[in-house]
Amino acid sequence: MPLHSTQSFAEFTEDDLFSQLDQETLPRHVAMIMDGNGRWASQRGLPRIAGHREGLIAVREVLNTYYLLGIPIVTVYAFSQENWKRPQAEIALLMTLLQEFLLQERQTFHERKTRFFPIGLLHELPASTQDLVHAVAQETAHFTERTVMIALSYGGRSEIVDATNRLIDDIQGGRASKRVDEVQFEQYLSTAGLPDPDLLIRTSGEARISNFLLWQIAYTELYFTNTLWPDFRRRDVLLALLDYQKRDRRFGRLPHGVSPQNRL
Ligand code: IPE
Ligand code: IPE
Ligand code: MG
Repeated sequence: MPLHSTQSFAEFTEDDLFSQLDQETLPRHVAMIMDGNGRWASQRGLPRIAGHREGLIAVREVLNTYYLLGIPIVTVYAFSQENWKRPQAEIALLMTLLQEFLLQERQTFHERKTRFFPIGLLHELPASTQDLVHAVAQETAHFTERTVMIALSYGGRSEIVDATNRLIDDIQGGRASKRVDEVQFEQYLSTAGLPDPDLLIRTSGEARISNFLLWQIAYTELYFTNTLWPDFRRRDVLLALLDYQKRDRRFGRLPHGVSPQNRL
């Protein structure tokens, strides 16, 4: 069934939504700020960790959907540097869940020839978590077709400051030229070599970036939805992608379709 801009998507099935997607203009890189696990749990009178658990089910379904759609790079914000301010018990449970997730998904990363690529201040993670994160990253490092990037103990500002410090070291050591351009600077970020996100999704109704990928989202399309992360599933991915495909990514140029006579 064709969709018209005035129609709401509510009455459409997942198959309808899928058939509306233009396979040629899907994003290459989607980033997600998975937010709202705690609120999902408290709405049900459950402890916050129940929201994180349900959130993991959503992560699997969402990653699966991107895989089936052929979107090659997906980035998830799993734990921010600021999240260390949470109670110790919640942090410990989040780390346990992360380990469970990695143990369960390890095989899938291999089967799908997907590189698991962690970014962030990984040395701040508990030793057992670090070991597993590094192990899965190492054993999948040779896959080039697909990447799942996971931001752990990540902060966008500290990433930029770290990059700057390493650049200074290289300049002082004579390994980099004294004048730096954007292309060179990018090589010092943890995302070096990967394209910037085309689309950034944040769930739970918060319209902020929370220190995520500050450099990389300079021209990313932002999509905010009220859906809480544990409820964000295949259908929600399709809705976000359809919304993205309606946008005119001008990058500062004139809108598409403006005829040359009308330009001045
Ligand atoms: C997102 O859900 C998960 C992490 C930040 C680890 P929250 O735990 O932030 O859930 P809310 O925002 O309190 O509902
Ligand atoms: C952002 O969510 C971080 C992650 C999703 C990992 P938060 O819930 O921590 O962000 P704030 O506190 O609302 O900015
Ligand atoms: Mg939150």
